[in-house]
Amino acid sequence: MVYLTRVEHFNAAHKLYNDNWSEAENLEVFGKCANANWHGHNYELHVTIKGEPNPQTGFIFNAKTLSTLIKDVIVERVDHRNLNLDVDFMKGKFTSAENFAMSIWNELKPHIEKEGVQLHKLKLQETPNIYVEYYG
Ligand code: NI
Repeated sequence: MVYLTRVEHFNAAHKLYNDNWSEAENLEVFGKCANANWHGHNYELHVTIKGEPNPQTGFIFNAKTLSTLIKDVIVERVDHRNLNLDVDFMKGKFTSAENFAMSIWNELKPHIEKEGVQLHKLKLQETPNIYVEYYG
């Protein structure tokens, strides 16, 4: 079994805020991420697939095709958007890196499996110091 990772970038705005809490409570838990007027991140999305290389090509799957698929299914829908307001698959969810990674997985998985490829892992880098990993 071989693992292949494709990395894509996008920028998006969000805020982390619990409507049931006071502003002070939100600030205490979410810090700057609770800023009422939003803030942005330069996200890095690592998509790892797994499989055996095709004897005709030596590839598990064409990395360029994988890139196009990730762009069509995810990047086009989130890049330069507000995750809380603009992104249908994040509606009603906290836009934490954890939830975002899990939602991206759910969106991407059927499209990757349709190509006969197994999705292994998503890594979503939110800041240079924070990333989450999800294996489904
Ligand atoms: Ni944030």
